Amino acid sequence: MTAGELLALATDIAREAGEMLLAKRPARPEVLATKSSPTDVVTALDKAAEELIRARIGQARPGDAVLGEEGGDTPGEGGARWIVDPIDGTVNFLYGLPDWAVSIGVEVDGEIVAGVVNNIPRGQLFSAAKGEGAWLDGERLWCNTGVPLDRALVATGFGYGADRRRVQAEVLAQVMPRIRDIRRSGSCAIDLCSVAAGRVDAYFERGTNYWDHAAGGLIAAEAGARIDGLYGRPVHPDLVMCAAPGLFEELHDLLAPLDPDHD
Ligand code: IPD
Ligand code: CA
Ligand code: CA
Ligand code: CA
Repeated sequence: MTAGELLALATDIAREAGEMLLAKRPARPEVLATKSSPTDVVTALDKAAEELIRARIGQARPGDAVLGEEGGDTPGEGGARWIVDPIDGTVNFLYGLPDWAVSIGVEVDGEIVAGVVNNIPRGQLFSAAKGEGAWLDGERLWCNTGVPLDRALVATGFGYGADRRRVQAEVLAQVMPRIRDIRRSGSCAIDLCSVAAGRVDAYFERGTNYWDHAAGGLIAAEAGARIDGLYGRPVHPDLVMCAAPGLFEELHDLLAPLDPDHD
């Protein structure tokens, strides 16, 4: 299958999972369990959506591997690997806020070649196939360019866990006086799509997982943004930074000395 064909399949699956979530979301979803901390929650529908996505991948491409937030790593037989976050923005889902999405990336030979982020409550489906641009429904996306750091609207996120939050708050105290303002949507995948769509100028976050940014990272890159870790390292498990070239380097140089692992 070409990247475009994989994207078409990923899009169908993300639409079906999104419609299921919208139809089945109770007025007040219940927390099924907590994960890394008491505020890191999972609902029954996170699990149901991942099961649906895995079933559809298995029907269409039985030999493919799947890495999903709720179901873990399922090895395949040398084909593609699907990187699945069934609900990115579970806390928003829990509270009835509209920033949550089904995120599906498809990796071939270790590289994401197709990505879809379906922000169902807002009716916005972001997608990209490698080399074919980033799209919001039928509209081609381009990130903002030529924005200096002190005019940049910057999205970020805070991973779960009190220790991590303390460090992130300290970093934020240094960043805030140097930029236009901060936005925190509660979904890494949507933040990356917001960079792609020019709704924010940049995004950074420490401690994300591969499934958070696999699809959104391709969408941002295809919209002209650079996405990298510190000193050009891979974004996972490093700090993720994403912005147009120029702003990216300014953000990098601001964040590098603030990194807890900096020596
Ligand atoms: C979370 C969201 C959030 C980010 C966290 C992620 P989840 O994913 O993307 O914006 O700040 O780091 O874990 O748990 O809602 O899938
Ligand atoms: Ca989660
Ligand atoms: Ca996530
Ligand atoms: Ca999730």
